[in-house]
Amino acid sequence: MYKMISAITQKRWHFLAIALLIQIISLMLVGFLVITQSFIELSVFEWSITQSLLAGFLAYHFRMQKWWIFIHLCFMPLAVITLALNISPFWHLFLFILLVLVYGKTYKTRVPLYLSSEQVNKVLASWLPKRKHFSFLDLGSGCGGLISRLAKAHQNGLFYGIEAAPMPFLISKLRNIFTTSSCKISWGDFWQHDFSQYDVVYAYLSPVPMETLWYKVRKEMRPGSLLISNTFQIPGVVPDEIIELNDFSNSTLYLWKIKNIMEP
Ligand SMILES: C[S@@+](CC[C@H](N)C(=O)[O-])C[C@H]1O[C@@H](n2cnc3c(N)ncnc32)[C@H](O)[C@@H]1O
Repeated sequence: MYKMISAITQKRWHFLAIALLIQIISLMLVGFLVITQSFIELSVFEWSITQSLLAGFLAYHFRMQKWWIFIHLCFMPLAVITLALNISPFWHLFLFILLVLVYGKTYKTRVPLYLSSEQVNKVLASWLPKRKHFSFLDLGSGCGGLISRLAKAHQNGLFYGIEAAPMPFLISKLRNIFTTSSCKISWGDFWQHDFSQYDVVYAYLSPVPMETLWYKVRKEMRPGSLLISNTFQIPGVVPDEIIELNDFSNSTLYLWKIKNIMEP
């Protein structure tokens, strides 16, 4: 069994398959314990905690990311609590659909939804030109909060957002319906979008796409334009400026001035 999981992790199997396998293995081990012995007597909830600890340990041992360990630790006890609460299946379905509409594409993009802090907003607002016209693109604009706040403070800028997840996109559309027209949000995949028309490109993504993003930025962005990344660095590329913030997630902003365009 151990060799099987090691082989799977080394072959870089899809992380969802690994997570599922860890859940199944820990469930089978705990189920085996429940059936074959009579000296440990635990309630269903206590057994679920045993299973979750085992799953968390396996996830740690096979070097899954920290947030996966957290999910493994919470999954089974929460499932048992939810079943005990006797909640109508409608709410399970509703929550499931909601989660799919917000996080359904994360398996592909490897970038979940979390929002830039108010402090990030303030620093960006202070960096952007006060009079000169400029264009700003938020890659994966979430619920559109960042660009709509920046657009209000900078009437001299044109703000664009591209969002792949349907629910955040819908929220951002609703939020901008009665407000400023200098903020345009579209539904789609930013990898299919040309960055050459923007002066500033802002990314708050995850460690996974940063190297590929840098390749696209170097290929498409104009010399003199700026790439700003919240929290995630580009491996091996020293930023021109770093600002550490004191917000709830201890964000750091990394800024790169684009110098020359790479040959295709
Ligand atoms: C960490 S959130 C950042 C939200 C917003 N930019 C902010 O700073 O508050 C990243 C967002 O990028 C979206 N996303 C990830 N990959 C994408 C892609 N290829 N095209 C469009 N949106 C994408 C995700 O759905 C998610 O909403």
